[in-house]
Amino acid sequence: MTLIKNSRIYIQEVSVRDGFQIEPEFIPTDQKIALINALSRTGVAKIEVTSFTSPKAIPGLADAEAVMCQIDRVPGVQYAALVPNTRGCERALACQVDEINLVMSASQSHNVANLRMTPEQSLGQFSDIAKLVDGNAFLNASLSTTFGCPFEGEVPLSRVLDMVDRFSDLGIQGVTLCDTTGVGNPRQVKEVCLAVQDRWPAMVFTAHFHNTRGMGLANALAALQAGIDRFDASLGGLGGCPFAPGASGNVCTEDLVHMFNAMGYDMGVDLDGLLELAKLLPDMVKHEVPGQVVKAGPSTRRYPLPGRQGGTDQTAGSFCS
Ligand code: COA
Ligand code: ZN
Repeated sequence: MTLIKNSRIYIQEVSVRDGFQIEPEFIPTDQKIALINALSRTGVAKIEVTSFTSPKAIPGLADAEAVMCQIDRVPGVQYAALVPNTRGCERALACQVDEINLVMSASQSHNVANLRMTPEQSLGQFSDIAKLVDGNAFLNASLSTTFGCPFEGEVPLSRVLDMVDRFSDLGIQGVTLCDTTGVGNPRQVKEVCLAVQDRWPAMVFTAHFHNTRGMGLANALAALQAGIDRFDASLGGLGGCPFAPGASGNVCTEDLVHMFNAMGYDMGVDLDGLLELAKLLPDMVKHEVPGQVVKAGPSTRRYPLPGRQGGTDQTAGSFCS
């Protein structure tokens, strides 16, 4: 197995979907649109704009049509939407999305808690959706709880492979491996990523990590080293599934870009632009956000030596411990 292929990394922004779906306060539609328009100019490859779910299940994204239809689309950026069922697919297609991102879980209990369907019922919907889409949008499936389930615990690799088999049979072109509650570890991530790419070399795989237990960046690095070149990430580290107990934010976009940048990878993404946008988030969501680099500054940041400005150097070293 060879899989170190990633000279270019694709950053896929999910803050307006995964992030805003769990915010207790509704983010006004015009603010969502302004953020998406600004994100479109940072060089990210894809933006998950919203979800076409039941507004009773996800009230924070009840304005899906308004957002999807009013954003300015930048050529070269893909605009995706999360879709749980055929009704959601019809709504998304009416808004000319570039990508339908289907969602279901590898584990039965989380699928029922999140979507009120068994996995087989979800797959039945996907089969109808594949016919409905008929090549008019890229078809991706996000597989929640790929690395573990908050209700059932371990999810065997064989289960993940079976699900990807089913997706492949339906003509689904991309699969996102989601660590919904941040339970995966780098060794496991490497094993899963190598196994799926080995079996489906033509499938477009994305890694989607949550930093719930501080393993998000380590898992992203493990996925990268296993040949994955597409990463979902969320500005400020917002995010989480409202139907997964203990869920918290995604891997933070600007922290991920900062790390890959420092390692010399090309993403075509403007880190400074992302940091400026991240600074706006606390006002928008009315709480602090977990991102680290926006607080510390990038690793290239340099400080004046303490004490030099006043002509004496008596304080030099006083910050050390
Ligand atoms: N968009 C808008 N409304 C929808 C819809 C969709 N995609 N799917 C169903 N509905 C509406 C139905 O029209 C019906 O409306 P009514 O009560 O006014 O008649 C109502 O929702 C119930 O429909 P039903 O088919 O019985 O759905 P449900 O209540 O079993 O919920 C889902 C199923 C999938 C729609 C719902 O669980 C859901 O949207 N989950 C999304 C979860 C999510 O996004 N999680 C975070 C991402 S991982
Ligand atoms: Zn997520």
